[in-house]
Order: sequence, then structure tokens, then C-alpha cells
Amino acid sequence: MIEIDWGEEAGRLRASAAGEADWNAAVASRLVRDGDKVVADIGCGGGGMAKALAEALPGATVVAIDADPDVLEQAREHTAGLVRCELASMDEGAEPLRRAIDAPADLVWASASVHHAADQQAAVDALASLLAPGGRLALAEGGLPARHLPWDLGIGEPGLELRLDLAQDRWFKVMRESLPGSVPLPYGWTEALTRAGLTDVTTQSVLSETPAPLSPQRLDDVVRQFQTRIERLTGAGHGHGHGHGHMVVPDEEWLSPEDVDTWRQLLDPQGPHFLGRRVDLAILSVRSVHLGNAPR
Ligand SMILES: C[S@@+](CC[C@H](N)C(=O)[O-])C[C@H]1O[C@@H](n2cnc3c(N)ncnc32)[C@H](O)[C@@H]1O
Repeated sequence: MIEIDWGEEAGRLRASAAGEADWNAAVASRLVRDGDKVVADIGCGGGGMAKALAEALPGATVVAIDADPDVLEQAREHTAGLVRCELASMDEGAEPLRRAIDAPADLVWASASVHHAADQQAAVDALASLLAPGGRLALAEGGLPARHLPWDLGIGEPGLELRLDLAQDRWFKVMRESLPGSVPLPYGWTEALTRAGLTDVTTQSVLSETPAPLSPQRLDDVVRQFQTRIERLTGAGHGHGHGHGHMVVPDEEWLSPEDVDTWRQLLDPQGPHFLGRRVDLAILSVRSVHLGNAPR
């Protein structure tokens, strides 16, 4: 059983909203069209994309929606008056979202939020129903697991990052099954958009790369992300004042004891193997945006 406490994730979501500013700005500038007047970001997290959309569309109404009040507060601070922030859940159908936006939307963006809805197809249907005729739904979901580490780190078994991705995949399955009223989505996102009545459905994947050596700031971000992921899978840190917002059944073993020990050494700032001192870490990521248009 895995239960995510989004309130405990609020600080991390705010940090990633700031850290992903360049990616958000690049994607927002490709998504918006002249004449877009109403835009919504559903499951907005720290508000990074909502802010980028507001900056790309001066004069438009941008509404950032999230189901968690603490997360929304972070979005409100991050977007600093550029965006209207509203509390509503995708799990309650389209009406609360429609009321929150208050007008048919020219563009609805949802990144890594629909996969937390109990019924993902129902959530996609709800998002599609918010669109004005000819409006676009953009779902950022999936892509490829990001790469940061060399295959052989000189400590532990090679392939450590691949095994972390596999463990996270198993974690994701249990997370989905733990959602109350969870419904499977046994097909891809483009099919979900098509079933929601959208047309011209396609996917655009965005590759971003920061080669080694990383700047101190980016290296710090990468180390922090690994810390969060390892805490999530080992339960470490939970209940010690730096909670990661995830309850993990204690006897669930996601990583082998050998890999847990390797990660412990890699993430120990005092130890000889600390990742934060390496010059060979990089960031290579591919994120997918699935797009569909409402009929005119
Ligand atoms: C993984 S975060 C993604 C945040 C942001 N969109 C991003 O890409 O960085 C998922 C977000 O969806 C929100 N969320 C989860 N379930 C939701 C629901 N049923 N309705 C609305 N928001 C939800 C969470 O509070 C969280 O802010």
C-alpha cells in the first residue's frame, strides 16, 4: 500500500518548478497559439508550467489547478500574481474544474498528474470536456527514464541507475493499485485522447541534455533527486522531519541490500564516493507530450 501525501511533496514540487523553468518556457512557447485567451494547468504542482504559459501569453487568463492546498500555496507564491490558482480535483469529474476555470479553455496542460487520478480515462475525458471548439489538450506523460550516471561507477554492481528505474516502475504499479477506486488504463495515452473524442492526436517528445560536468547547482539538483527517490523506496527519512510524503509497507523490498548500500555511500557527503563531487554526471531526458484537438 502506497499513499502519497502531496502536502509533504509541496516544497519539492516548488523546487522542480524553479529548476525546470527553461524546459517549461521552451515547451510553452511551442504550445501556445496567437489568440489563446484561456489556458489551464491541471495538477499544476509548484506552478512552473502555469507561470511559463502566462509569460508566453501576456493578457491571457491562466488558471493553475491542484487538489492539494499546500501544493497550491507553493504555486501561488511561484506564479506571483501572473496566474489564478484554484483548488479542485480531477477525481470529481469535470464540473469542479469547469467552475474553477470559468470559461472554455483554448489550451489545457496536465503534466504527470493524470497518472495520479484513480480513473485516468475519466480524467482525460474530463480535461477534454473543458476545451473550447478547436482547443488543445496537452498531456505530459511518460517518455524515457532520464540518465545521469555512468554505467560503471567504480562502486557497487554496474547498471545501478537502470535497476533504480526498474524498482520505481514496480513502485508505480503498487502506487496505482493503492489509489481508492483505481481503474487500469490498458492502452497508451494517444488512445486515451482519441477515446475522449479528440482529433489530430499525436505525440511530441522533447529531448533535453546537460552534458558533464554539471554546474554545482545542477549537480546538487541531481543528487537531491536521487536522495528523494532512494528515500521513497527505502522508507528512509520518513517520520524524521524531512518526510518524502510516501508511506511504504516496511517489508516491501524495492532495491537489493547491495544497491541500498551503494546508494548510501554515493549519497553520503562525507564519504569518498559522494556523487556531489563527481565530474562525470550528466542529464539526458526525453519527456513526451501527447496532444489532441477538440472538434470545431
Ligand atoms: C507529480 S506532480 C506533477 C506536478 C506538475 N504538473 C509537474 O509536472 O511538475 C502531480 C501533481 O498532481 C496533483 N494531483 C494529484 N492528484 C490530483 C487530482 N486528482 N486532481 C488534481 N490534482 C491532482 C498533485 O497534488 C501534484 O501537484
